[in-house]
Amino acid sequence: MPSMVCLFFLSEILFSLSLSLISSITATGEDQFVYSGFSRSYLSLDGAATITPDGVLELTNHTVHIKGHAFYPTPWRFRKSPGEVVQSFSVTFVFGMIPIYSDQCTDGMTFLISPTKDFSGAQTSQYLGLLNKTSDGNKNNHIFAVELDSSQNTEFNDIDDNHIGININSLTSNKSGSAAFYDDNSGMFKNISMVSRKEMQVWVDYDGETTQINVTLAPLRLPKPSRPLLSATYNLSTVLEDPSYVGFSASTGPINSLYCVTGWSLGINRPAPLIDITKLPKLPHVGPKPRSKLLEIILPIATAIFIFLVGTTVIQLVRRRMKYAEINEDWEAEFGPHRFSYKDLFYATNGFKNKNLLGLGGFGKVYKGLLSVSKLEVAVKRVSHESKQGMKEFVAEIVSIGRLRHRNLVQLLGYCSRKEGKPTLNWAQRFQIIKGVASGLFYLHERWEKVVIHRDIKASNVLLDSEMNGRLGDFGLARLYDHGTDPQTTHVVGTMGYLAPELASTGKATTQTDVYAFGIFILEVTCGQRPINSHADDSSQILVDWVVEHWHKGSLTYTLDSRLQGNYNSDEVRLALNLGLLCAHPFCNARPNMRQVIQYLNGEMPLPELMPTNISYGVLGLMLNEGFDQYSALASTVGSSCMTSSLSSGR
Ligand SMILES: *[C@@H]1O[C@H](CO)[C@@H](O)[C@H](O)[C@H]1NC(C)=O
Ligand SMILES: *[C@@H]1O[C@H](CO)[C@@H](O)[C@H](O)[C@H]1NC(C)=O
Ligand SMILES: *[C@@H]1O[C@H](CO)[C@@H](O)[C@H](O)[C@H]1NC(C)=O
Ligand SMILES: *[C@@H]1O[C@H](CO)[C@@H](O)[C@H](O)[C@H]1NC(C)=O
Ligand SMILES: *[C@@H]1O[C@H](CO)[C@@H](O)[C@H](O)[C@H]1NC(C)=O
Ligand SMILES: *[C@@H]1O[C@H](CO)[C@@H](O)[C@H](O)[C@H]1NC(C)=O
Repeated sequence: MPSMVCLFFLSEILFSLSLSLISSITATGEDQFVYSGFSRSYLSLDGAATITPDGVLELTNHTVHIKGHAFYPTPWRFRKSPGEVVQSFSVTFVFGMIPIYSDQCTDGMTFLISPTKDFSGAQTSQYLGLLNKTSDGNKNNHIFAVELDSSQNTEFNDIDDNHIGININSLTSNKSGSAAFYDDNSGMFKNISMVSRKEMQVWVDYDGETTQINVTLAPLRLPKPSRPLLSATYNLSTVLEDPSYVGFSASTGPINSLYCVTGWSLGINRPAPLIDITKLPKLPHVGPKPRSKLLEIILPIATAIFIFLVGTTVIQLVRRRMKYAEINEDWEAEFGPHRFSYKDLFYATNGFKNKNLLGLGGFGKVYKGLLSVSKLEVAVKRVSHESKQGMKEFVAEIVSIGRLRHRNLVQLLGYCSRKEGKPTLNWAQRFQIIKGVASGLFYLHERWEKVVIHRDIKASNVLLDSEMNGRLGDFGLARLYDHGTDPQTTHVVGTMGYLAPELASTGKATTQTDVYAFGIFILEVTCGQRPINSHADDSSQILVDWVVEHWHKGSLTYTLDSRLQGNYNSDEVRLALNLGLLCAHPFCNARPNMRQVIQYLNGEMPLPELMPTNISYGVLGLMLNEGFDQYSALASTVGSSCMTSSLSSGR
């Protein structure tokens, strides 16, 4: 039972917290003392003996074969003056025996008077922490004891395992009797089980004149029975030395037992002071018994509460599991360990709060998040399981992002560049972004084990990190191809304004179509305009055509973003505009590859001069009719399939 376990540990804690504090006892004269509970009382303790915070003197401590002692700290003189006889005295105490795991206790306890409180030589078990094999029966012990014995040891002629005895220097009692009392009212002799976990009171009275020793036992709260259980005549003047200590000993044998004292008083030449029974501490509740009324009520309630708690916990866990339930798709296994738990992502993004929304990706919303363990900033894209189309594309992105490693590809860091209210980027930042995206795209095309066609390069797919590095993200449309193979024809995807002319007819996404989109991207960043600008008069302006127009007129820098306010590196600007036009060349084979783009951007190779032509870059331009001839400078390198598509393509 959990409740029992709790109780057990609690009591253990209480034991270990026991304190022995010095305090004055109720002293009404030199020849008496009384303890009604031992809290804040000082006793000489040794062995396993402790005083609990409640004030219970525990002579043993849940350990087998152990002994413990407690003495009134100072010794007493039982004679009026040396050489005289031992005076009358009275002792009373309240005790309890608590079997811990069974109905039995071993071995027992004693009240004793001894010239010493050093009982280090005493043995445990049947020796009751009082004597040892060699000292037993020795007249020089000068010990008088009343034993409360819960074991029957034949070597000491014990009468049973529940007896009280008067002992002089020996564990063999001079007189003993089964624990019992004479009921004053009925006159009946009533047996008592000492190991009943109930408090009992003992009176020990010695008459100095008659040398009579009476020992009386009764359940607590019963007045002292007038007829003692044991009565013996023994001249203690021949036994006791002055001064002598008064106290208790106890020992456990093979069965775990707790021997406790809760009240104690002594009177020399006078009756023992009354113990205030109302102030006595409760015996500790230990072990499977007794089934007190309280426990009988508490136990079912505690059990019910426990079951309720377990039940609610289970329900909560199930709810949590359902809340964070995940679907493992068949195809996931082959893609390796890129899976995050939904729960982690849920927490990382504050539960997909709008506050964390970065933007709308290809098939879902993208949230900014912070992984709690690695403290990595992440962009989390949330796609609906309902859209199967989106799911497939999403996998492509996971595969791509998960396995591609490049500083200019979105790994886990980044936030959206299209956030509203962002300050205008200066030229240095823009140029850096162009270089970054170029580097990322180069990696995709050439540096990885497979050719990755991004297929959706555009400004809104470029994320900026905190250092304004451009990172290419959103692999929602990416396709993987082995190097040297011909890209398969698919339905045309991508974003209007970034689609290379040949895509419309061939439907083949190639590295060259990516380069085309990248060219548009360069122009977009440099000119600060959308690829297709809608005017109020319903006409639309194609950015690339407009730039080409100014290129023809020799007024290329006119196309620059006015927000740069003239602050730019003119060489870089010219390079960017020319490179943008070159990449966005209508003839796919006229476009540089990304390796060359990098070299141009880094100034490692001069950008080839664009021939002055009337060529129109846009779908609405003249290029379809006349461009081919006029673009002779580059025409020799144009591949036939690409050429065909170029000539017949539209956007
Ligand atoms: C019992 O007391 C002995 C000292 O006599 C000590 O070594 C032991 O740890 C105690 N056991 C418990 C359970 O407190
Ligand atoms: C027995 O007890 C006596 C008195 O305490 C002591 O002197 C003696 O050493 C003990 N003997 C053994 C074997 O412990
Ligand atoms: C009581 O004690 C005396 C003195 O030690 C002894 O002679 C006598 O045998 C004892 N009586 C019993 C019943 O043990
Ligand atoms: C009391 O206990 C003794 C010893 O165990 C036994 O002999 C006796 O019969 C019992 N008396 C009563 C009334 O139970
Ligand atoms: C012992 O008990 C007897 C019988 O009740 C009584 O007469 C006597 O006075 C008592 N002696 C002591 C010392 O209490
Ligand atoms: C008890 O013993 C002492 C000392 O041995 C002696 O003086 C006294 O007379 C004895 N008392 C009785 C009642 O025998």
